[in-house]
Amino acid sequence: MRTSDIFLTISSLVVGSLAGTYNIDKTYIGEDFLNTWTHEAISDPTHGRVDYVTQATALAENLTYANGDTLIMRADATTVLSASGPGRKSVRLQSQDSFGTHIVIFDVRHMPVGCGTWPAAWETGPNWPANGEVDVVSTYVIEGVNDQGPNLVSLHVATTCSMPSSGRDMSGTAGSLNCDVNTDGNSGCGVNNPTSNSFGHDFNNAGGGWYAMERTSDEVKVWFWSRQDSTVPGDVQSGADEVNTNNWNQPVAYFPSTDCDIGNEFGKNNNLIFDLTFCGDWAGGSSYAAAGCSGTCVDWVNNHPSSFHDSYWDVAAVRVYT
Ligand SMILES: *[C@@H]1O[C@H](CO)[C@@H](O)[C@H](O)[C@H]1NC(C)=O
Repeated sequence: MRTSDIFLTISSLVVGSLAGTYNIDKTYIGEDFLNTWTHEAISDPTHGRVDYVTQATALAENLTYANGDTLIMRADATTVLSASGPGRKSVRLQSQDSFGTHIVIFDVRHMPVGCGTWPAAWETGPNWPANGEVDVVSTYVIEGVNDQGPNLVSLHVATTCSMPSSGRDMSGTAGSLNCDVNTDGNSGCGVNNPTSNSFGHDFNNAGGGWYAMERTSDEVKVWFWSRQDSTVPGDVQSGADEVNTNNWNQPVAYFPSTDCDIGNEFGKNNNLIFDLTFCGDWAGGSSYAAAGCSGTCVDWVNNHPSSFHDSYWDVAAVRVYT
């Protein structure tokens, strides 16, 4: 064997063993969210009864609070709203950095709960929503409404795209298989997490947990581990500088690109987003009464500020690996 053969053999072994390995690119903790993420004081694209505020307002009213390893983002829980005025004050934060192939790990202690709430942690491409999601793949990692768990993981693609009806290596249960934003009222193709502690009160009572998403040029995978889950990988739990998905258990959701014309779209970089809206396209619809919430969603949001005390995100860290 010549030296070059040996070198090739060794390097192919190394590449093989590193296939699921990613290195830390960005770590966001506490005040990092004030310096490298943007408070988007925009009108809510999902038509919620919300008034997204600027960073200055959020800090002045303590709706955003960053200290040590804590980031709190919350709803105003004191003001009774005028029916003809703006919605309930809340926060929507978007990362200035954007990422192509990557893993993002959301280490979250508490997510917003309560009737009328619609929290989400997700990522999307640069044109959203100004260009109507053209050329964009949005991935919702954490999402749900009106306290109704478990978590829904979903993909929204601005072109013809569907998921196979079988053969997906995941623990979650597939809902809609059509990911095209132009069908089904942009509900996307979703996967329900099988564990109740993946969302809402049960998530919070367990001390939260870790959501991880891997996005490559042709697939998306999402994992979830509750805070006390014995299967949480050591590299996730410790916030290690390197993670290896080969050592992780089966994902909750798996989105392959087999029946999805999205090769190019996946190549575009995505920004990370936390938001907290109320009512709107999803939470304000039939799901509101179905969740046992009283009256109408908008009246509830206007008139019951104290019911929004637990409507807050408490984020320990967001880490991105590339
Ligand atoms: C702001 O919120 C944080 C987190 O909930 C709390 O610890 C702090 O006391 C609040 N500050 C004020 C001035 O209310």
